[in-house]
Amino acid sequence: MTLPSGHPQPKCPRHVAIIMDGNGRWAEARGLPRSAGHKAGIDALRRAVRAASAAGVEVLSLYSFSTENWRRPKAEVAFLLSLLRRFIRQDVADLHAEGVRIRVIGARDDLEPSLVRLLAEAEQLTKANTGLTLVIAFNYGSQQELARAARKLAEQVAAGTLAPQDIDMARLGAALDTSDLPMVDLLIRTGGEQRISNFLLWQCAYAEFVFLNLFWPDFDAAAFDKALADFAGRDRRFGGLKARSA
Ligand code: IPE
Ligand code: IPE
Ligand code: MG
Repeated sequence: MTLPSGHPQPKCPRHVAIIMDGNGRWAEARGLPRSAGHKAGIDALRRAVRAASAAGVEVLSLYSFSTENWRRPKAEVAFLLSLLRRFIRQDVADLHAEGVRIRVIGARDDLEPSLVRLLAEAEQLTKANTGLTLVIAFNYGSQQELARAARKLAEQVAAGTLAPQDIDMARLGAALDTSDLPMVDLLIRTGGEQRISNFLLWQCAYAEFVFLNLFWPDFDAAAFDKALADFAGRDRRFGGLKARSA
């Protein structure tokens, strides 16, 4: 992850993560139910996937339902769950044809077995694809993910297959849902809030943050390119010194 100083810095992020926020406010501003905003958000999600593929991004991680979102009214939660099902059913074949590899991160325990199966099938179908890796964070919370990883390692220690002194950054990283993925380079949040809301805390250790003042359903290729341009202008020092110009 560290770059030697003076090394040319990559201008296109390998891993972009997006907190897709503002669906409800987008709908409310139009006198529509919040569900209309979530529905319009799916079109924005499709635009994001296309824009990321076109830009040559390797991994696009999308926050689509947080562990905290269960606090919402039952009807809204049910709508969001049904929207995920519909998206997977409708889009998986197209994504597969475009070479997209689908990964789902988050806890599966609270989800219905039929939904868990659907997600596993999408991952299985697309796992050998070599295009964009699309990470869907569903029922995802970063603190919960870290706790799950700690538990996994503790179980290995208890079973005698892991020595405590062998637990390091790499081991912990490998026990996370994102084990084989690169660290997040660029985190984008729409909707105007400037917070991380329990998304990829470990993985964003050195991410650049871009906050966009638009609601998620209004997100498009131009907004994505603006975030990439912003990223390209950043000086990423990783704790070192400013990269020397030639
Ligand atoms: C993001 O939009 C979608 C999810 C969190 C599932 P919101 O539903 O949070 O929309 P706002 O923030 O209330 O406008
Ligand atoms: C973050 O948005 C979660 C997703 C986009 C899925 P929220 O709307 O839930 O976040 P808060 O409540 O503003 O922190
Ligand atoms: Mg929100």
